Amino acid sequence: MSDKTSRHHVAFYLNGELTRVQGDDAFMMLAEWLRKRALRTGTKIVCAEGDCGACTILRAFEPTNSSKKPTFMSMNSCIATVAQMDGSHLVTVEGLEVNGELAPAQAAMRVCHGSQCGYCTPGFVMALSGALEVKTHLDRKTAANYTTGNLCRCTGYSPILDAAEKAKASETHNLSKRYLTNQNLQQLKKEIKLPVLLSDTQGRLFSAPMRLQDACKFCAKHKDTRMVAATTDLGVQTNKGRPLPKHLLSLQNIPELYEISTSKTSLVVGARASLSRLRKATEKRIPEFSKFLDLFASPQIKNVATLVGNLANASPIGDTIPFLLASDAVVHAAKFSAGKVIKRKIPITEFFLGYKKLSLKAGEFITAVEIPLTSQTTSIKLFKTSQRKDLDISAVSAALSIETSKSGDIKNAALAFGGIAATPVRIHKLETFLVGKPMTQKLLDRALDLLNDEIHPISDVRGTGAFRRVLVHQLFSKYIHEHFAMGGSA
Ligand SMILES: Cc1cc2nc3c(=O)[nH]c(=O)nc-3n(C[C@H](O)[C@H](O)[C@H](O)COP(=O)(O)OP(=O)(O)OC[C@H]3O[C@@H](n4cnc5c(N)ncnc54)[C@H](O)[C@@H]3O)c2cc1C
Ligand code: FES
Ligand code: FES
Repeated sequence: MSDKTSRHHVAFYLNGELTRVQGDDAFMMLAEWLRKRALRTGTKIVCAEGDCGACTILRAFEPTNSSKKPTFMSMNSCIATVAQMDGSHLVTVEGLEVNGELAPAQAAMRVCHGSQCGYCTPGFVMALSGALEVKTHLDRKTAANYTTGNLCRCTGYSPILDAAEKAKASETHNLSKRYLTNQNLQQLKKEIKLPVLLSDTQGRLFSAPMRLQDACKFCAKHKDTRMVAATTDLGVQTNKGRPLPKHLLSLQNIPELYEISTSKTSLVVGARASLSRLRKATEKRIPEFSKFLDLFASPQIKNVATLVGNLANASPIGDTIPFLLASDAVVHAAKFSAGKVIKRKIPITEFFLGYKKLSLKAGEFITAVEIPLTSQTTSIKLFKTSQRKDLDISAVSAALSIETSKSGDIKNAALAFGGIAATPVRIHKLETFLVGKPMTQKLLDRALDLLNDEIHPISDVRGTGAFRRVLVHQLFSKYIHEHFAMGGSA
């Protein structure tokens, strides 16, 4: 399964058993593989789109350069391939009980009647068991947050939350203690020393090199390479019938790309850093963004999904993009040319060329996103408007940032909206108009007219163009009223 330079299989622990997978099986979606090959049928598949949580499993992973012990976190197994699990420790619902004794979340679900048809139950149990790895007990609100990504169609949520409140973490069932033993951690490190190159019978290749240089070379060799991050976008498309592209490149085995480094002036987020880690890393430095990420998807998605994936997916309603636009973020890209790695920095305002069209060149991919930190006199507010508060796609999102001078005049304005054009956009004319002026009701009225002229929102299933205009108007107005303490209703 290996030669001197590559490994043609991936390796991970599944419920404490070292597991190696190669060939066609490695290209399967993990939930399918768990059910059909590993016969762990407790993991259910309902939506196959990352929405319902029935396929939730727990994964513990740390890059090889990290000395931190990994923590088990929930993820959806229906939209990730087996290949992406290389170097992970996985636990399915079958791995929870100890000598026939149910784990705390399972026992509590039974006592509190948290299950009727039972189809969603393993998913809830896994999400709650993940929570009990880091908390000794759960209050209702915490349990509801951890299970945002789990849907139940018959029980109703009250008995499930009763069960969550009743369940207490138990030493006997602690998954880290049972499965992340020194022996398992060491053994897995030994197993994954070579870069991964997988192939299947349809001629597809999945490459997970260990050095940036080798990733760049793979892209240079295979011009049609598709980057793979956590596949929370790509996996949904695949399950909807769009086949996985022929050449897949994952940066999952390049440790430095998991880093989030901070300096006085910026935050550099590596291509593999998950949104959950980013949420934590921005808690103090960019609290508004950290809080905003609470509204992004579910824990299962955020525990794996990347900022870079959100950016490169280039959806007009990609929720992090207005923030990146308003922050004047810089995209770090790399490619192989003339025998070496060429690195390039692209200002985000030049990154989107049209609907899902990026300014990346052939063979070039993103290695990181640099987010400049704003001055203390700048106030940034982020908004997401959707029909449901949790786990819903935005109709309109916004990042509105204004810096005010000591005299009260507007010094800088960065106003970005998603959901109103083919790509998320900055409202440049309005920004220029505002600079150098003190905010008054008269100026706001004029600004709202200009804003109305500058946007051309489209109509789709999430709202008509007219509705989106109203949303944009209201969000801007609300922000200005709050920022300048203007009083009155927005
Ligand atoms: C249930 C559910 C809820 C969601 N909720 C939200 C939400 O609230 N808000 C929101 O904005 N999105 C949401 N999403 C979409 C998705 O989770 C995000 O866009 C996520 O950030 C994608 O990251 P990823 O790592 O999974 O990317 P992937 O799916 O792996 O990749 C996405 C795209 O980026 C490209 N790509 C990946 N890495 C690179 C790279 N290094 N260089 C160049 N291209 C690259 C891929 O080729 C692909 O085209 C949701 C998805 C699901 C399934
Ligand atoms: S099956 Fe619904 S989230 Fe995976
Ligand atoms: S118990 Fe039937 S879907 Fe939840």
